Amino acid sequence: MPRHDGTIAIVTGAGHGIGRCIASQLAAEGAAVAVLEVDESRGRETVSQIVEADGRAVFVKADITDAAQVEAAISAAEAALGPANLLVNNAAFTDAGDLKGMKLESWHREIDVNLNGTYHCIRAIIPRMQERGGGAIVNIASVNGVRYFGNPSYSAAKAGVINLTMSVASEFGRDGIRCNAVCPGSVRTDNITWTIRQKKDPDIFQKLGRWYPLGRVAEPMDIARAVSFLGSDEAAYISGVALPVDGGMLAGMNVMIDEFILEA
Ligand SMILES: NC(=O)c1ccc[n+]([C@@H]2O[C@H](COP(=O)([O-])OP(=O)(O)OC[C@H]3O[C@@H](n4cnc5c(N)ncnc54)[C@H](O)[C@@H]3O)[C@@H](O)[C@H]2O)c1
Repeated sequence: MPRHDGTIAIVTGAGHGIGRCIASQLAAEGAAVAVLEVDESRGRETVSQIVEADGRAVFVKADITDAAQVEAAISAAEAALGPANLLVNNAAFTDAGDLKGMKLESWHREIDVNLNGTYHCIRAIIPRMQERGGGAIVNIASVNGVRYFGNPSYSAAKAGVINLTMSVASEFGRDGIRCNAVCPGSVRTDNITWTIRQKKDPDIFQKLGRWYPLGRVAEPMDIARAVSFLGSDEAAYISGVALPVDGGMLAGMNVMIDEFILEA
């Protein structure tokens, strides 16, 4: 039996990049998937790709910064597919930068999409999952939420997502709700930040790979596989964790050790 037979999943930000890969992977493993996106054409494209591959998916439009839109979109998803038992909070926004150059609007926007938006989705799904005896939530955080690697407002928001993950796991475990986070390192995607960086340096992903003990950056599928596992019954006793999916990077800086210690 496929791992996600019987799973009804809502994946936010599934119109692009990692979110699209997660939605497609869950569908390939038997889940019915609601693609919750603010960008309608991208969201519908994901749905078409899943349906063309014989999967089951619907598009629901929402801006996750608006709690009322989120509530309506989750109701629409459940009306189309049935009661959701998996929520993947993937939608995110960053315009990168540092504290010195930080515009106040950037700070607010990154906290709003990445932290408040995640909370809006959790807030909408919890009573539904409680009523039906449980479910799983997987939040896409980042290694930036654990250590500082640039992007201060994004990082603060992702640290908040990790702590929110623990709150949900603690408060709602008795209701059968599991909540975990995945913390990717650099992922080879064409989001706005990586597109700008790649224009400056076409070899950026190759160069970044040396900072990762496994010698490469992640592919979206590396993240999708971890999400699929945490969202499945195979992870039935795992809740409240923030799982690095970072090729070992948070475990240690091998490049620093090689260059500054062993060669000294
Ligand atoms: N790409 C990386 O290197 C990387 C590294 C670590 C963590 N992550 C995390 O992985 C996740 C996916 O990243 P990605 O690179 O695929 O991003 P992306 O920018 O390619 O895709 C994000 C999607 O979210 C949607 N979205 C943005 N704001 C929204 C809103 N307000 N409401 C609804 N949808 C909205 C966008 O339309 C887009 O389709 C994010 O949580 C990101 O923080 C990415």
